[in-house]
Amino acid sequence: MAQGTYRAVMCEKISASASEGIEAAVLRELPRKAQLGDQEVRISARAASLNFPELLMMQNKYQYKPKLPFVLCTEGAGVVAETGSKVSGLSVGDKVFYATMGGCAAEELVLPAQMCIKMPDTLSFSQGASFHMGYMTGYHGLVTRGRLKAGEWLLVTGAGGGMGSMAVELGKAVGAKVIAAASSDDKLEMCKKLGADYVVNYSKQKLKDAVGEITKGEFCDVIYDPVGGEIFDQCVRCVTPKGYARLLVVGFASGTIPKFGINMALIKGFDLVGVRSGAQLGLEPALARETMLELLRLASEGKLKPYVGSEFPVDRFREAFKLMEERKVIGKCCITFAAEPHSKL
Ligand SMILES: NC(=O)c1ccc[n+]([C@@H]2O[C@H](COP(=O)([O-])OP(=O)(O)OC[C@H]3O[C@@H](n4cnc5c(N)ncnc54)[C@H](OP(=O)(O)O)[C@@H]3O)[C@@H](O)[C@H]2O)c1
Repeated sequence: MAQGTYRAVMCEKISASASEGIEAAVLRELPRKAQLGDQEVRISARAASLNFPELLMMQNKYQYKPKLPFVLCTEGAGVVAETGSKVSGLSVGDKVFYATMGGCAAEELVLPAQMCIKMPDTLSFSQGASFHMGYMTGYHGLVTRGRLKAGEWLLVTGAGGGMGSMAVELGKAVGAKVIAAASSDDKLEMCKKLGADYVVNYSKQKLKDAVGEITKGEFCDVIYDPVGGEIFDQCVRCVTPKGYARLLVVGFASGTIPKFGINMALIKGFDLVGVRSGAQLGLEPALARETMLELLRLASEGKLKPYVGSEFPVDRFREAFKLMEERKVIGKCCITFAAEPHSKL
């Protein structure tokens, strides 16, 4: 029977801006669940990774609207500390990662065992905590929806961020020729480390001119855009005119949902493809399982390893969220938890 409390980073009210939301978020003591269900596991968490939707949820601007108050963060990693009586396939001491609809910025979680995935030995806890959302979205977008093939030109925007950096790695794993585009040279240095063939700093150069030069006028077969706004407008200009290109709408981190002339899709003969990985894979559990198995296979071959640019102990959680708000995250940003966290056992 577990007693005592654990700490969790909570959103208790909706704020008018991300900055206000970060200031309003609080570290609270919550009671531990005393008794596990038959199929549940208790996890001693070691890391939670941040995703852009957290900033949107604080403002009630995300499509999924959790009930207040809620614990922030949708993915994490830790160690199994206790198992329910009917759990099979997981034991105390196993390292696991998981994705949930919130609740991961906490020292302890109780989850159904089937939501936990054993972590490959090649990954740290922060890398495990970063695995799920970026790679599932990337694979679903690039491979399942985008039909990306070896040898094709792939352009990734926001390539220095979470979704972008993981799409760069996946593009290379598929064998595409990858152009990574971002707003700073630091972000692009990381993209080169992840294997990007070419990089473009779109705060210094027009994306269309740079991509035209790199591809010798061929332009791109697949474009993965998590940024939206003006960058999306430039992406439309980077689509190959040869036909059959796929422009993937992944997100709007710029804060602006772009509008575009639908005639461009006709003139260049491209597909505009909406990528909605969480909801779609929720509807298709078999596809979700297949996708995760393929990602774990690629990770075991050393082809996928999330780039974690920054880690903050949980007491400094506001610094982590601020980094994301200020557009300064390189790769993934994580909150970490000590191995023996419980303050009032
Ligand atoms: N479709 C799906 O299934 C799915 C799943 C998960 C996430 N998403 C979406 O993907 C987007 C990116 O998420 P993420 O976790 O990768 O975020 P992130 O790590 O913060 O990266 C976002 C990137 O967008 C660029 N950006 C441009 N203007 C920005 C601004 N005003 N504020 C912040 N960033 C800005 C930045 O790159 P530069 O500075 O280089 O421009 C930044 O690196 C979000 O819109 C998120 O909701 C979609």
